[in-house]
Amino acid sequence: MANDSRPHLVVFSGSGISAESGIQTFRASDGLWAEHRIEEVATPEAWRRDPARVLNFYNLRRAQVRRARPNAAHRALAALERQGFRVSIITQNIDDLHERAGSRNVLHLHGEILKARSTVDARMQYPLPRGGIELGDICDKGSQLRPDVVWFGEAVPHFSDACEIVAEADLLLVVGTSLAVMPAASLLECTPLETPSVLVDPEAESLAPPGVTRISQSAGKGVPALVRHWRREGRLWVPEILLG
Ligand code: APR
Repeated sequence: MANDSRPHLVVFSGSGISAESGIQTFRASDGLWAEHRIEEVATPEAWRRDPARVLNFYNLRRAQVRRARPNAAHRALAALERQGFRVSIITQNIDDLHERAGSRNVLHLHGEILKARSTVDARMQYPLPRGGIELGDICDKGSQLRPDVVWFGEAVPHFSDACEIVAEADLLLVVGTSLAVMPAASLLECTPLETPSVLVDPEAESLAPPGVTRISQSAGKGVPALVRHWRREGRLWVPEILLG
């Protein structure tokens, strides 16, 4: 939307934004990757070796996502959009909590757990309104269905689209991510030098790269606080009062 003069907020979210909705993050001491080995459940090799185990891992996570509800951070971003700001959300999360809160412009860098896809043709996608994926569930070409998620070692198909969106931001709001996974984390480098970037994360102090403003708070506190300021003034900036 080249002629769109509304203030443009680009959000880059990670699992921390869904933590207060009851969805586990990955790298905490009680996170998903402490309970499961990545190479056993989230790689193409794992899928070839033991597809039933991989399907079971994602079936359990899908059930967790369906039980979860959007929290104050998801809701604040949707409210900002309803007020007339242009809000683009790029999420590493495979849950649908941004959409359920009401955000309409969401790009899932790592796929969506509520969709299945063909193993032979990534464009053949199937919504999963209920239930999981079992061995023997097949696509229209007769091939086994898999979760529509990006595994370690696979390409991130929407990365260049995401980079173009970030390049058009008036402000980049990064929320709840350890910035440990590439290429996703390198999205921050798509912002022009003059574009302000903010990280809201309890660990922001140690995680934020140089030049990124740190707000060391949970998403449920930090994001609604920022959004309140923006809605009140009708513009995007980083209020000093929120800095620790
Ligand atoms: N509010 C905001 N941030 C939080 C909260 C909270 N309530 N609780 C935890 N966090 C932060 C942590 O401090 C941490 O920085 O969320 C971040 C979670 O980091 P990771 O567990 O590494 O998850 P994420 O960055 O989303 O992982 C990226 O890794 O395994 C892959 O594909 C998976 O998309 C995922 C990617």
